[in-house]
Amino acid sequence: MERMEKDDVVTGAAPGSQVSGSRGLFLSRVVRNEPLCREHFRLVLEVDDFPPAAPGQFVQILCAEPNELGWTQGAFIRRPFSIGGLRRGGRRCELDILYRALGTGTRWLSRQRKGEPVSVLGPLGRPFEIHADREIAWLVGGGIGLPPLIWLAQTLSAAGRRAVAFCGARSADFMPLTRVAGVEIVGEQPVLAFEEFASVGVPVITATDDGSLGAAARVPDVFARYLDQHAGQISSAAIYACGPEPMIRATAQIGLAHGIPTAVCLERVMACGMGTCQSCVVRVHDAAAEEGWRYRLCCTDGPVFDAREVVWD
Ligand SMILES: Cc1cc2nc3c(=O)[nH]c(=O)nc-3n(C[C@H](O)[C@H](O)[C@H](O)COP(=O)(O)OP(=O)(O)OC[C@H]3O[C@@H](n4cnc5c(N)ncnc54)[C@H](O)[C@@H]3O)c2cc1C
Ligand code: FES
Repeated sequence: MERMEKDDVVTGAAPGSQVSGSRGLFLSRVVRNEPLCREHFRLVLEVDDFPPAAPGQFVQILCAEPNELGWTQGAFIRRPFSIGGLRRGGRRCELDILYRALGTGTRWLSRQRKGEPVSVLGPLGRPFEIHADREIAWLVGGGIGLPPLIWLAQTLSAAGRRAVAFCGARSADFMPLTRVAGVEIVGEQPVLAFEEFASVGVPVITATDDGSLGAAARVPDVFARYLDQHAGQISSAAIYACGPEPMIRATAQIGLAHGIPTAVCLERVMACGMGTCQSCVVRVHDAAAEEGWRYRLCCTDGPVFDAREVVWD
């Protein structure tokens, strides 16, 4: 295969900019589909003519046998997955998907082998906005929230920006990252090396619930400790968070308390992924509304939101 280049469109979206909205239905082919750890897999799909995309955006994958047009018989609903990386070579594009095999659709996905067709709809949703005036990015993620942050780390690094990642999981065998040798200490915290971040020079501070990898703590607590030790960087930093909702909420509260621009990538159950079914609502503040809030759609207004917008109950 010809050399694949990182997409130069993926420098993220500038604040306030509009995403092109260009999307399509693609019949991709499996390049690789391999276990990463207990329950998590890394899937690489090859797609022709995939539109420009940026970290934070997602695709809807048909987790069932597609016909030659990319549809299937019956009413199987597509499943949303963040794009965890994207490389281009001529017309061809490779998409990285990191997924946890937990239900009917993802277990079907885990059985797909090299060369098999997979129907992909995308790219969908709004990506992370990169804050041009904030030279440091703190990426805070947990479990299956890590894929968009991996791509964001690659993108920021390609743009010459500094980033530090804070990655959490239940235990070492649920961490969907590839461990490579090397430990260094930043402040009082051990920094472990993972290929996905180390390859672009981004240090990773790790936390697991049971202490089997990195600190025995929740990732927002580890992040808060780091912030105390690096308070001088607060005015030059922005936070990008993705993962389980309690983790995102705690991270958003830290960001908001310190006045740090904080973007959160949220998950909702999504049927259409394109603003039609209304299944994916997120409550946002709205002073003009009678109750002080209104609904927005995670699939088209998000999945990335400014933490200040979201109603955190
Ligand atoms: C924007 C977005 C990005 C996502 N990115 C990733 C990712 O990169 N990797 C990853 O592993 N997972 C990701 N998810 C979650 C992923 O979509 C669900 O794990 C997947 O749909 C489960 O499908 P299933 O058929 O295996 O499970 P099911 O058998 O349908 O259900 C198992 C569990 O998954 C939840 N679930 C089912 N359908 C959805 C749905 N459409 N959206 C959200 N949750 C659902 C159910 O509530 C249930 O708890 C993302 C979700 C969203 C909304
Ligand atoms: S998933 Fe259908 S409107 Fe959002």
